[in-house]
Amino acid sequence: LNRVNDPPRKPLRVVVLGSTGSIGVNTLDVVAHLPDRLQIAALCAHASWETLFAQARQFSPRYVVLTDATAFEQCDRSQLPPCTQLLFGPDAVAKIVSEPDVDAVVSAIVGAAGLTGTWAALEAGKLVALANKETLVVAGSLVVELARKHNARIVPVDSEHSAIFQALTGHGAHEVERIVLTASGGPFRGRTRSQLEAVTVDEALRHPTWRMGPKITVDSATLMNKALEVIEAKYLFALSLEQIDVILHPDSIVHSFVEFVDGSVLAQLSPPDMRLPIQYALLYPERVSGPTKRLQWRELCSLHFEQPDRETFPALNLGFEVLRRGGTCGAVLNAANERAVELFLCGELRFLDITRACADVLASHDYLVNPSLDELWASDRWARQEVSRWTRLQHRSPTP
Ligand SMILES: NC(=O)c1ccc[n+]([C@@H]2O[C@H](COP(=O)([O-])OP(=O)(O)OC[C@H]3O[C@@H](n4cnc5c(N)ncnc54)[C@H](OP(=O)(O)O)[C@@H]3O)[C@@H](O)[C@H]2O)c1
Repeated sequence: LNRVNDPPRKPLRVVVLGSTGSIGVNTLDVVAHLPDRLQIAALCAHASWETLFAQARQFSPRYVVLTDATAFEQCDRSQLPPCTQLLFGPDAVAKIVSEPDVDAVVSAIVGAAGLTGTWAALEAGKLVALANKETLVVAGSLVVELARKHNARIVPVDSEHSAIFQALTGHGAHEVERIVLTASGGPFRGRTRSQLEAVTVDEALRHPTWRMGPKITVDSATLMNKALEVIEAKYLFALSLEQIDVILHPDSIVHSFVEFVDGSVLAQLSPPDMRLPIQYALLYPERVSGPTKRLQWRELCSLHFEQPDRETFPALNLGFEVLRRGGTCGAVLNAANERAVELFLCGELRFLDITRACADVLASHDYLVNPSLDELWASDRWARQEVSRWTRLQHRSPTP
């Protein structure tokens, strides 16, 4: 181990997209603990203006952005500190991420809506700490190419991909046999399909180990989250289908591992706390003492692993299908899932129908092998409409 006395450096100027969400709030906690290293340049939310303005009072950013028109009209601007300017809409998101004094952008908007800001940040050559996995699911090839062209770096925030990123550091692609993503299994691990027929929204939102926004919590319950993560891993680490596997690990302590060609396995372990991968993404490759809780080795007696039940949770198979086919499949699966989860959360679709709808819409879409960004957005819009139509048909002819 080297002992280094680094010279003092300027704090990293950070923009947080989705600052009012679960990842956003965790990011601000990391920043609050490391004021010498991290500073908030701008914040962005959709409609939660009261939380956003309270964050502005604490962190004094130059800009805050709202993307919901009604919230922008109705918010009380007198609650903003004098140093902070309020902006509106997608153009404002592109502006705040590309300001010259911005060093890093935490991409933590939920869903495909996160792609626009991530794209603008990469175009401006910024470091992107990527929580918004949907960016890579929808447009992985184009996003990776964009980052390469603009010499921008993407560092994963998703705990599994952060673990793999950490284990891969210092190794070449030729040394890697495969990666194994761990999955908690969500609240319904061990249940049969018939037991899942009537699960409620409240049950689906009760995740055993992680506290997250509603969309990713439902995705964890269906295992669609792992399907999206399989696709995310392919683009982050340039892996083939055969090099990606998934294993259930309900303890959520081992956050994924890499098997190397010599038979060694490197894993990253920590308590389930998103502040660690967020901090690592922002300060990579440096490790500093931050707010994350420590593993209690004396209390940790065993770690459990089991194979995922792909018949009960077929969403995982859809992730591997998208990996195999590429093209428009990621955009279609992601949009179908977003719409299906929305409908489930408002009581219009049953739990098992989320994956059924996604599978049907994926199977029936007009596949393009090399889509442009506009074509991907068109596929996204089409898939959302198709899931709405699929749901209306279900209501007309209830399944036996
Ligand atoms: N939560 C986790 O532990 C976790 C772990 C790994 C990866 N991720 C990924 O991180 C992302 C965020 O997840 P989350 O759990 O933090 O979600 P969340 O708690 O639901 O927060 C979503 C954030 O996005 C904003 N937002 C929603 N729709 C928007 C739109 N159309 N335009 C602009 N902003 C919008 C929300 O603003 P309002 O509050 O104003 O609605 C909020 O700030 C997701 O891609 C998820 O998969 C999350």
